Amino acid sequence: MAQSSSFSVSTPIFYVNDAPHIGHAYTEVAADVLARWHRQAGDETFFLTGTDEHGQKILRTATANGVHPKEWADRLVESSWRPLLDTINISNDDFIRTTDDRHKVGVETFLQRLHDDGHVYAGEFEALYCVGCEEFKPKSEIVDGEGAFEGQKVCAIHSKPLELLQEKNYFFKMSAFQDRLLALYEERPDFVQPASARNEVIAFVQQGLEDLSISRTSFDWGIPIPWDSAHVTYVWFDALLNYITARGYGQNPTDPTAELKHWPAVQIVGKDILRFHAVIWPAMLMAAGLEVPSNVFAHGWLLVGGEKMSKSKLTGIAPNEITDTFGADAFRYYFMRAVSFGHDGSFSWEDLAARYQAELANGFGNLASRLLAMNVKYFDGVVPAAGAEEPADAVIRELAAKAAADADAHIEAFAIHEALASIWELVDALNGYITEQQPWVLAKDETQRERLGTVLYTVSEGLRVLAELLHPVIPESTGKLWAALGAEESLGALAAQSIREAGTWGRLPAGATQHPLPVLFPRIETEGDGK
Ligand code: MSP
Repeated sequence: MAQSSSFSVSTPIFYVNDAPHIGHAYTEVAADVLARWHRQAGDETFFLTGTDEHGQKILRTATANGVHPKEWADRLVESSWRPLLDTINISNDDFIRTTDDRHKVGVETFLQRLHDDGHVYAGEFEALYCVGCEEFKPKSEIVDGEGAFEGQKVCAIHSKPLELLQEKNYFFKMSAFQDRLLALYEERPDFVQPASARNEVIAFVQQGLEDLSISRTSFDWGIPIPWDSAHVTYVWFDALLNYITARGYGQNPTDPTAELKHWPAVQIVGKDILRFHAVIWPAMLMAAGLEVPSNVFAHGWLLVGGEKMSKSKLTGIAPNEITDTFGADAFRYYFMRAVSFGHDGSFSWEDLAARYQAELANGFGNLASRLLAMNVKYFDGVVPAAGAEEPADAVIRELAAKAAADADAHIEAFAIHEALASIWELVDALNGYITEQQPWVLAKDETQRERLGTVLYTVSEGLRVLAELLHPVIPESTGKLWAALGAEESLGALAAQSIREAGTWGRLPAGATQHPLPVLFPRIETEGDGK
């Protein structure tokens, strides 16, 4: 069993050109589940998220809307991006904006260091740029346009025409880090995960790394280059640094790392931005003599009609379209359970509604409400004492320990969907146990009173284990269940329960008073109900 230690995690920072869709929310929920799990394990945890506000993409959107880019960013952050965190119940410890002073100071310090240490030079450059990606595209991602864009070169991700840019730029000597990067992937096979992402990154770096253009002169929405204010910092170079500026880098000008905390961190990113995080970012850190991330984990895309969901392709679904009907817990559960973390997953309303009904409402919610109703009926709402253990009870006790240990191991390996699958074995087993033990039959026979107590204790304690293990994923409903089980008074706050001890049997004390439980996952009326 893993010992408590520390856990630091970051999401990418989100472009504020538009409001969030469920693809963005997916990244947030995954990082949040990991952070909540580790916090509940007693690990010293730090969870950072934020917004990416410079660059041409934001500038163009703001200009098209007739406002200054900072005003546009303020508007989007306050109206959309911060509220998203409440909508899906994100427990971040900090929120960085790249327009924050603390970030600007850190970026300037970092750039100046690289410049002073000879990692930067001035040069001329001509290449095809995708404003959607904010990237000079490598040949492998340039394709021929179709339809309206026939005859033009377009970005393989955005399907929009690329722009030929020719500028005097500053360059980061990234090519010098090729061998050190390859050695890193070799020495730390789990640095880039999953394995498919690692292979892709290695193949990319083996092809040969070019130097990276890190400044732009054709517009001014960015952080000025400290030694040449005619240039602003390339938006990705600026954005990647959020991971350390928010953690205190550069706040002390004479000793930039004096205030740096919670670094290195785990980086959860979508596969579209893997190369920035697994190639450019570690090279930047190596140049500055800083530690590289602990891991870079690339998750897949949420697909609609087989394509990456995106606002620009008009397939974006706003997170509250789902949470308004199903609630934040169902949103969190669904995406963590239905999509293998690290692979693409197709979103469909039918699948969401089916899993909500079968797994959350019927599987978990009903289990809890049935148990509490039986405890009220047969034991006046007090947790009964368990008598002699029979083989069927031992199966549940052992499965609880196994589910807890397996789930923890899966979370360590970033396999969130597997963790949920392990926990759900206990949900299913408890439902089967009630059906087999038939407490309503035992209740009719006074000589079976002790057996009835054992059965209901076993289910109560199984639910106690489930509340603890599911709290990182469905915090609201497990909170309600915890209170109803009488665990709040007897064991203390749910978030304070050590998740790595969750499988230790017998913690819910007999005699605890249980409370009414509101319906955790109410029936959703669909049009097909004819009501
Ligand atoms: N601003 C950059 C990241 C800079 S980090 C130093 C960026 N922003 S983004 O808003 O476009 O995307 C943020 C995250 O959302 C990425 O991890 C991206 O993969 C994720 N997603 C955007 N659309 C998605 C789906 N359709 N499905 C899953 N995740 C998706 O990139």
